[in-house]
Amino acid sequence: MKVLIATDKPFAKVAVDGIRKEIEAAGFELALLEKYTEKAQLLDAVKDANAIIIRSDIIDAEVLDAAKELKIVVRAGAGYDNVDLEAATAHQVCVMNTPGQNANAVAELALGMMVYAVRNFYNGTSGTELMGKKLGIHAYGNVGRNVARIARGFGMEIYAYDAFCPKEVMESEGVIVCDSADELYKACDVVSLHIPATAETKNSINYALLNGMPKGGLLVNTARKEVINEAEVLKLMADRPDFKYVTDIMPAAHAEFAEKFAGRYFATPKKMGAQTAEANINAGIAAAKQIVGFLKDGCEKFRVNK
Ligand code: 3PG
Repeated sequence: MKVLIATDKPFAKVAVDGIRKEIEAAGFELALLEKYTEKAQLLDAVKDANAIIIRSDIIDAEVLDAAKELKIVVRAGAGYDNVDLEAATAHQVCVMNTPGQNANAVAELALGMMVYAVRNFYNGTSGTELMGKKLGIHAYGNVGRNVARIARGFGMEIYAYDAFCPKEVMESEGVIVCDSADELYKACDVVSLHIPATAETKNSINYALLNGMPKGGLLVNTARKEVINEAEVLKLMADRPDFKYVTDIMPAAHAEFAEKFAGRYFATPKKMGAQTAEANINAGIAAAKQIVGFLKDGCEKFRVNK
């Protein structure tokens, strides 16, 4: 059996070594395609792969057509909007993710970006503190929960809205629960986004929602760029000179944001929330173990396509 790691944004070497150990201990072979620049390289690499480990790499119908021997794709991470699930099901390919494995890394970056923004991007001027501020967590999953844990240490007041997480769970963790996104944004000085990119959430972070935030509002996005209505956020930032936006996922309109809103907008050059050795090891090795479990024992835990 051949397992391919196909990562445009490579894992730390220590994680690749760990994955190799798992795969070879199972008697399988490991192949590596990193930092590829053309889709053709991916199409070529998948030809004889029985399993693939990816990150935000796109697995669409064309890749699945090329991967004639493929049985399983594991997204080493949480969000799997980069995989065409319907096409995978049609090709009889199992798709899994590794929920929670990189959550702390993403949460730490969210807090780091918050500090960076409220300290005016370290430009030497007087900023503000996070202590005593109201933090809104939009979606209380693995990352949101870690953000809450860390933000509590900063002395922030934690609010959350999650359409799927039971209210009692959030309350039991000391969170003030909001009944709608509107209510959350109106209540909070800072909102940290942790919603997945789905048909329902795409473009949902819009002018009306953000305009409800109090003066000096800050939006932190370590989720997906697709959930942002960029045209409306551009308009909001033009209308609201007090508003700041920091993101780990560079918007399509990055140049316009950077030019118009220098001093209150920041984007990392490449999504780096999960770029830590620890997260790479956790997610990568979990992916390897899930592949071994699936190929040897048919274990389908963490399958996301039916
Ligand atoms: C995820 O969905 O797990 C995160 O967005 C991390 O994505 P990455 O593996 O592409 O860094």
